[in-house]
Order: sequence, then structure tokens, then C-alpha cells
Amino acid sequence: MAEHLSQSELDYPFKLLEYINGFRVSQVIFSACDLGVFDLFLRSPTPLSAEAVARELGASEGGTERLLDVLAGFHILEVEVVEGKALYSGTDVSNLYLSKAGAKSLYDMIVYFSQTIYPLWGSLADAIRERKNEHETNIESEDLFKAAYRSDEEMLKFMGFMNSTWVIDGHDVVTAFDLSPFNTIIILGGCSGALAREVTREYPAATVTVLDSSAVLQAAREHFLQADDTIQFQEGDFCAGEIPPADLYVLPRIIHDWKEDMVVQLLQKIHGSCKPGGGILIVEALLFENKRGPVTTQIFSLNMLVQTGGQEHPPSHYCRMMATAGFHGVQVRRTGKCYDAILGIK
Ligand SMILES: C[S@@+](CC[C@H](N)C(=O)[O-])C[C@H]1O[C@@H](n2cnc3c(N)ncnc32)[C@H](O)[C@@H]1O
Repeated sequence: MAEHLSQSELDYPFKLLEYINGFRVSQVIFSACDLGVFDLFLRSPTPLSAEAVARELGASEGGTERLLDVLAGFHILEVEVVEGKALYSGTDVSNLYLSKAGAKSLYDMIVYFSQTIYPLWGSLADAIRERKNEHETNIESEDLFKAAYRSDEEMLKFMGFMNSTWVIDGHDVVTAFDLSPFNTIIILGGCSGALAREVTREYPAATVTVLDSSAVLQAAREHFLQADDTIQFQEGDFCAGEIPPADLYVLPRIIHDWKEDMVVQLLQKIHGSCKPGGGILIVEALLFENKRGPVTTQIFSLNMLVQTGGQEHPPSHYCRMMATAGFHGVQVRRTGKCYDAILGIK
């Protein structure tokens, strides 16, 4: 018997059935977000019947009731049956994370998963067979962002998704190491500036600049700028163009997009621009060395195959690539959340 399976799992494969059913679990949450269920509960001062929810959302009562029941089964909503009538209400989790207006809303992430990632994953087996598909997976690195940003709408969705992650992981990754010795910090491929804002919040004395393409920065200025922003935006191309000098380069979710030879070239280029005593902070989800997880990161790695041709790595791979590029004293910190931090010094 496999040592990690109990006899009851072998007699009846609960976990296996749960995994097989996973796509339906995702769709329940995607659909509830799409319908506006969580925002309705956030706004409602009192519990609501399925009939009232259906009326507000312009949906069928029967379908709404079944959806609300599953969400209550997930403990994402509360339900109370009073004199035979079910009344539903939001929870801290649905209000905070799932409503569009929630303080830590993951709504944009959910929209991106539902509208972009979910259809792509229908081609997972083809991506593993190394067959190109209609979504241009396994594309060469230079075409990567042309494909990710195939329309303005798609680019905004992607940027919204990127933003959502740092709402929940940002503080942990920027405090994994003490970054206060670094005065000038450039976030390479910093997108809408979500992680840069976490850096300025934690290290207000630092000058923080986001470097990204002109199209992304234009969208960042139009859609993601905050009134109290102190971050600077600089248009640039870290592959084809110059990398400005700085004390610290932060690379959040950049390395995992590229194949290893491209990564080493980029790290060498950064090493050339980095001030002596400065450093590089790579922010990625780290695999375990023993290949036993974390499952979320293993799934991210498959996602990179489907979407970009890149992959996630264990710490030893990052240490090797950073050392090849000339960085020393490489330290790795796992945050316990999805994203971790690796610091190297010039
Ligand atoms: C996977 S996204 C990560 C975004 C952001 N760092 C985050 O984690 O939220 C990669 C980012 O790098 C930018 N990028 C890719 N290649 C680039 C290049 N050659 N020069 C500048 N930015 C680039 C993309 O526009 C995109 O914003």
C-alpha cells in the first residue's frame, strides 16, 4: 500500500474525487463573481432569501438557490433556515476577498482565471505534448508579452490579476529581507506598481521606480494610479534596452516567464548595471527541492508551460542562475504564502 494513503482512501478515493471535481469548484466561484453575488451580500444589511438574490441579479430562482447552497457548503456564505425558509448572508471571507469592492479583493484575479486561464487549461495536454494551440502557448520569449497582451482588454485583465496577488502576498515578500540599506530600488517589469507600493509603504526613504513597457505604463497611469503615489514610472525594455543603475533590482514574477539561458543573460545584464554592494531580489513561488510540493507552485509551473513556456524552480536553481550571473551571498526566504523571496548581492 502506498505509505501516504490510508486504507479508507484506498477503499473510497475521497481526495481523488475531490480533485476530479476541482473544475466545478472553480466554476462555482467564477460564476458567483460574474453574477455579482458577493457584492450583493456586501451591500445588504440583512440576510437574503434565494428569491430576493435571484430578483436582484436577474437570475432564475432555482439556479440561484443551488449556487447559494454550494457556496454555503464551501463556508463562503452563511445560511440559516428559519421556519422552513433559507436566508443567506456574506462572511468575512466573501466580503473581504470575493466582492469587487472588498478591501482585499481578489475579484480581478478571479476574472482573469475564469476568462483567460480556464480556457487555456483546456489545452494542457497539448502543451505537454509541445503542440502549439490557438492561444500560441509554448511561444518564444520575445513574443511572450505580445501574446499575453493580445488586446487592450486582455492587458488590463492581466494587470488587474497581477495587482490582486500583491494585495495578499505583497507585505510578506517585501519584508522577507530588510531592504532598508537600499536607497534606489527599481522594480523590473513592475507592471501597475502594486508591489512597488508595498515597497514604498515599508521603506518610505527609498526611491522606488517601476520599469516596464510604454503600453503597460500608459495603462498603469490611466487605470491603477493612486492619489498618494510616490513611486516613479520609467518606460524601458530590460532585454533590448539599458537597465538604469540602482542599489536594488526587484524582479517579481519575471524569471519564471523565461527559459534558463535567457534568465542568465538578463541576470548578467542586471549585474552589470547594479551598484557595488547593491543587490537583486527575485520574487517567485518556490518549489520544494524534493519535488513534493507545494502543490500550488507545481500547478503554477504547469501554468507557465501552458501560458509562456517558462517554469517555476526550487531555490537551488535560482541560486545557480544568480551565482552564474555573478551575485554572491544568495539567501532564500519562504514566506509561507504563495510567493517567496531570494536576495543576492553584487
Ligand atoms: C508576469 S508580469 C509580472 C508583473 C509584476 N512584476 C507582478 O508580479 O505583478 C511580467 C511583467 O514584465 C513586463 N516585461 C516583460 N518583458 C519586459 C521587458 N523586456 N522590458 C520591460 N518590461 C517587461 C511585462 O510588461 C509585465 O508587466
